[in-house]
Amino acid sequence: MPFLRNAWYMAAWDYEVTAQAPLQRTLLNHRVALFRDADGAARATSAICPHRYASLGLGRLENGVLHCGYHGLGFDGSGACVHNPFGAPSKTMKLETWPVAEKYSAIWIWLGEPERADPALLPDFAFNDPAQAFVGKGYLNVAASYELEIENILDLSHIQFLHPTTLGSGSVSDGVYEWKQEGDAIWSNRKVIGEIVPEALALAMGLTPGEPSDRWIHTRWNAPANMAIFAGAVPTGRPQGEGRETPTGHFFTPETDTSSHYWYSIAFPQYIGPHGQAMADEQVDFLSLPFRTEDLPMLEEQQRNLGGRSLRDVRLGWLPGDAAGARARNLLYAMIDAEQAEGG
Ligand code: FES
Ligand SMILES: [Fe+2]
Repeated sequence: MPFLRNAWYMAAWDYEVTAQAPLQRTLLNHRVALFRDADGAARATSAICPHRYASLGLGRLENGVLHCGYHGLGFDGSGACVHNPFGAPSKTMKLETWPVAEKYSAIWIWLGEPERADPALLPDFAFNDPAQAFVGKGYLNVAASYELEIENILDLSHIQFLHPTTLGSGSVSDGVYEWKQEGDAIWSNRKVIGEIVPEALALAMGLTPGEPSDRWIHTRWNAPANMAIFAGAVPTGRPQGEGRETPTGHFFTPETDTSSHYWYSIAFPQYIGPHGQAMADEQVDFLSLPFRTEDLPMLEEQQRNLGGRSLRDVRLGWLPGDAAGARARNLLYAMIDAEQAEGG
């Protein structure tokens, strides 16, 4: 299935892209080199050297010039060849380049028509703004499509079964679930009353372990797969406003048709004080465990069972928690179809 091209996809956390060495990553089947130019601005170019197709990720970066590790040609952030050890820089050998934006602690890439790349189109992830928040950052490379990831995050009924000792509890299936569309965003909202959450989660959420609580988990999706979960809990019966709501980011970018990049984050506002970064780092580690040891193997098995097929191409069963994920995928497919119809 084709990908949506005219959209912002996350390409890296901000700290991953440096002026010291190129970062090579496959994004939507493109081999991309990410690096910072001499002014510190993030750049994205093809990672394939036009001379003999060597990977520029194996080269070196010097003053914003990417030098191929094979025969030494150098390219700047505009893709132009600016260095040739054997003569004048080539005018014909050039790298493809793509627009990038640095926002919300991340580097975003636009792989569609460059003139349509407007950073204002990015959904709001202000909670990850490094000027206002301590952001704990995680990453997983998953051998499963981003469609499976979209459904995983939009249907959190699975936390009862897949994460019983970390994120879930036996009460989740008794909770209230609703979904809605607001503009381009799909929301999947869940509320669980009188729940006893696992001890580590209780401590992370500021609850007394073993005591019943009321938990809300509100998930937002924006195309293609940029998502946020706003979750919190209060001692049962207390108003939601008394609880602390913690936002987490979940950003998925297709690597290939059947594999994905998954960046996730947890953010605390800077006003909580300087221990906030340690808290964010600790809690992102807490989340990493179920993501890596429970979600990842399940999704990779789903992908093996699907083979190379998209969820769009197979017959699926239906449970109430599927509504938001199905709607989000249908919106995404409609956007892809429209783009293909206009010549994509
Ligand atoms: S392959 Fe890059 S310079 Fe030869
Ligand atoms: Fe999960």
